[in-house]
Amino acid sequence: MSLGADRSYKMKLRDVENAFKYRRIPYPKRSVELIALLAISCTFFLFMHTNKLNSRLKEMEVKLQPSEFSALGLTSNHVSGHDAGKHDDINTLHGTYQYLKSTGQLWRLNPKFLNNTKYHTRDILFFNRVPKTGSETLIELMLRLGKRNHFQNARSPFAKPTGVYWSFEKQKEEAHRILDLMEEDAFAYAEHANYVNFRQFHLPQPIYINLVRDPVERVISWYYYKRTPWNSLQMFKITGKFENRTHYTKNFEDCVLSHDFECRYDYGLNFKDDPADHKRQSLFFCGHAPLCEPFNTPSAVARAKQNVERDFSVIGSWEDVNVTLAVLEHFIPRFFRGSTDLYYEPVKGLAFKKRNTNHWKPKISERIKRIMRANFTQEYEFYHFCKQRLYRQYFSINRHLDL
Ligand SMILES: *[C@@H]1O[C@H](CO)[C@@H](O)[C@H](O)[C@H]1NC(C)=O
Ligand SMILES: *[C@@H]1O[C@H](CO)[C@@H](O)[C@H](O)[C@H]1NC(C)=O
Ligand SMILES: *[C@@H]1O[C@H](CO)[C@@H](O)[C@H](O)[C@H]1NC(C)=O
Ligand SMILES: *[C@@H]1O[C@H](CO)[C@@H](O)[C@H](O)[C@H]1NC(C)=O
Repeated sequence: MSLGADRSYKMKLRDVENAFKYRRIPYPKRSVELIALLAISCTFFLFMHTNKLNSRLKEMEVKLQPSEFSALGLTSNHVSGHDAGKHDDINTLHGTYQYLKSTGQLWRLNPKFLNNTKYHTRDILFFNRVPKTGSETLIELMLRLGKRNHFQNARSPFAKPTGVYWSFEKQKEEAHRILDLMEEDAFAYAEHANYVNFRQFHLPQPIYINLVRDPVERVISWYYYKRTPWNSLQMFKITGKFENRTHYTKNFEDCVLSHDFECRYDYGLNFKDDPADHKRQSLFFCGHAPLCEPFNTPSAVARAKQNVERDFSVIGSWEDVNVTLAVLEHFIPRFFRGSTDLYYEPVKGLAFKKRNTNHWKPKISERIKRIMRANFTQEYEFYHFCKQRLYRQYFSINRHLDL
């Protein structure tokens, strides 16, 4: 390379450098950095915010996932011993209403899709009553309705409460026995019995109804009911024996704290020697399969929900009297037309009748209930599932509501 060429190359290089150095730029360098920084922070802020909203939504989805089986029920799988009371707002009438409204589902509720009664061609009703949910009051109402709406009522005689499952043969026999009691073309039958699918015997499936109650309150109620003189006398007539004195004076709180077998609520627990332990409300909906027996298990509750979705027209609760009456009335009018009027009929109405309360039952402390609730997670899941389903049925026929 010649010397001249080298110089000219260096000069060119300097020119280029100078051009860069003295180039006119619209903003000082610092401002550009500032703008870039601002832009990046904005993006980052939005990103973080979206992320937060996203996880909030995810959280809500977990709480409010629709039932696995159909669009009928919401479920709430979050109630546990520690959380109960903190998150359970969605499980109230008001909470469910607010949720459905805020997600735009309220206006889309259609009673047609919440109505299992329409699949029935025969007017046969089976109230397979869960013990200690106030079923006597509903039976009393049905007796009065029977006169008004012209249908026949029948119930099983007092028997040893059945918690155990029946064999296929026994179920078939019972299904035939129940249908043989039918004399009129509209017939309502009540018995403490686990759900039976009549279709498997090529018999007409009855319209199923039932009641539910807070699972822990129900267990406490059963414990003291079992010890009342009138129940003991009835049991004596059937079994020919009385329990001893310690049994009758046993205190519930001690029973739970001392881990007495009668008051144990361990995951997967079986009936053992007590066919009437009544720890699981879900059993009455799950049926007679061995899968239904282990206490507080997801598979038993999943089966129970499936049966509810497919075969139960209404599952009410005396915790929501007016809602239950309205839903029964609108979804099973053949039997329950006029329920609200009859229930609140001045003086004679059941609303004014003294309830079947057990004065032998002491008040149980919140602490004991909390200990129990921690072990009844699946039972609560099922209970809330039924309640939310009832509320949706109610909202579907009361669109003008403003809760
Ligand atoms: C549900 O179905 C039954 C039987 O078809 C009918 O009588 C009743 O009016 C229906 N209820 C609602 C709310 O759709
Ligand atoms: C009373 O019955 C319980 C079991 O139910 C038993 O453990 C207890 O020993 C009995 N007490 C007496 C005094 O017989
Ligand atoms: C609750 O469940 C746990 C685990 O199964 C068990 O250890 C505990 O004793 C149970 N509590 C009661 C009151 O049964
Ligand atoms: C239930 O209905 C009755 C009669 O219509 C009414 O008097 C009462 O206030 C209602 N209760 C609630 C909690 O809405």
